[in-house]
Amino acid sequence: MFYYYGEIRNFNSVVSLPIHMRGLEHLKKEAGIAACEYVSNGMKVGLGTGSTVKYTIMELGRRISDENLKIVGVPTSESTRILAQSLNIPLIKIEDVDKLDLTIDGADEFDINYNLIKGGGGALTREKIVANASNAMIVVADDTKKVNILGKFPLPVEVYVDDWEYVQSEISKLCRGNVYLRGGEISPYITDNEGYILDCNFGPNITIPSDLENIINSIDGVVDVGLFVGICDIIIISSPSGINTLINQNGRLS
Ligand code: 5RP
Repeated sequence: MFYYYGEIRNFNSVVSLPIHMRGLEHLKKEAGIAACEYVSNGMKVGLGTGSTVKYTIMELGRRISDENLKIVGVPTSESTRILAQSLNIPLIKIEDVDKLDLTIDGADEFDINYNLIKGGGGALTREKIVANASNAMIVVADDTKKVNILGKFPLPVEVYVDDWEYVQSEISKLCRGNVYLRGGEISPYITDNEGYILDCNFGPNITIPSDLENIINSIDGVVDVGLFVGICDIIIISSPSGINTLINQNGRLS
């Protein structure tokens, strides 16, 4: 059973609510807040993007204001930058630091080997840059994100605007044509890097994510692919029965 592949710690304080009160939003909030335990004074923290890590960022803002927590953050998207600024979280640019202590981010899917699909929010390239510049990565997610094999969630690939059709045709050869321009041709979704996103429907068949990451990244016109392999150290998972923290035994926080 999936949950038993890593070390498990229970945050018993969160299991007392009856199940009917524990909607998805509540689960996101619990996972997001639980990750803040890993943040302490003096840290440089990568701030992810999405509706789960939003709660991490809000809690960090609260601790800065109520508990005088001293951290600086590096946002992974414009939306996160705006949120963090509204909470008075001091921000720096990734190019102004050598290494970050920690990145906390969400995921669209994760597997038992701590591989991730990210980019549902379109921020995958900067998320990967920030995660790779960090000494550790913690993922916050509800348990609907866990899968045996990655790929049910359409794999986001960021592409240069002028090259999207070429990349679409190349990736289509790998997944039988199921590659869609996010937002459609009339009003495509534009990333913070002013690129496009292709959502690639591989289905739950991505058995060797590192191979697929290399193959897709070798296609001219690709900016980056939303496969995160060998980067994630901890996954904090919320479910109706509480919070489990999986610690990657091959990771940097084991
Ligand atoms: C944004 C991401 C998000 O982390 C991912 O989409 C998960 O978001 P959410 O917590 O809203 O489900 O990769 O690019």
